[in-house]
Amino acid sequence: MTSPSLRLYLRDHTRQAHQELDRTIGRLDSADAYGSFLRASYAHRQPVERYLAGADWPAAFGDWRPTELGPLIAADLADIGAEPPVSPSFDLSKDIASLVGVIYVLEGSALGAKLIRRMAGALGYDENHGARHLARQERLGSWRGLLAIMERLESIDLAAAVRAAETTFEQAASAMRENGFGR
Ligand code: HEM
Repeated sequence: MTSPSLRLYLRDHTRQAHQELDRTIGRLDSADAYGSFLRASYAHRQPVERYLAGADWPAAFGDWRPTELGPLIAADLADIGAEPPVSPSFDLSKDIASLVGVIYVLEGSALGAKLIRRMAGALGYDENHGARHLARQERLGSWRGLLAIMERLESIDLAAAVRAAETTFEQAASAMRENGFGR
């Protein structure tokens, strides 16, 4: 299965999970809501990025590696005078299909960054203060790199990739709920 179809397969099979997450977060229309979003984003990304850091990347990935946003989110939190939360570890198999499902969710989230950055901008946050990680995501280079790699991948276990992507969305949703959203 080639890149457009692998990506579209994952998109189709996680559409509902994304919609639920989107609904849980809602509009970021106050400094409080944005602060919660930053804490939740850190609680989501940091454990998943730690999981990815221990991966053994197949040759098809060349020197591409997933974007590490944790440090930039920590800087955004420092800008608003908040501490990064501590969150449970993310435990999942590191087979190639699971890795692909997880990085699809993390890297694909960059596609929504422009919209979120607009909300953050209306609250006075920008690439130098409070919205550093969104500015980084908006550049989309890493996402495009991943699409090209997905094109070169062969024989991916689609069911395992979807399960990993769903698990990642669920982990994000629970990080959001634990930080004040969707109650
Ligand atoms: C308020 C929060 C969010 C909003 C408003 C939002 C919005 C969007 C938008 C507008 C897109 C682009 C859809 C397209 O171009 O077809 C998108 C894509 C995506 N988002 Fe989100 N998003 C949010 C949060 C998240 C989070 C927290 C994650 C991950 C945990 C995530 C994962 C994804 C993925 C994987 C895609 C790629 C779908 C594809 O393959 O095209 N999003 N999002």
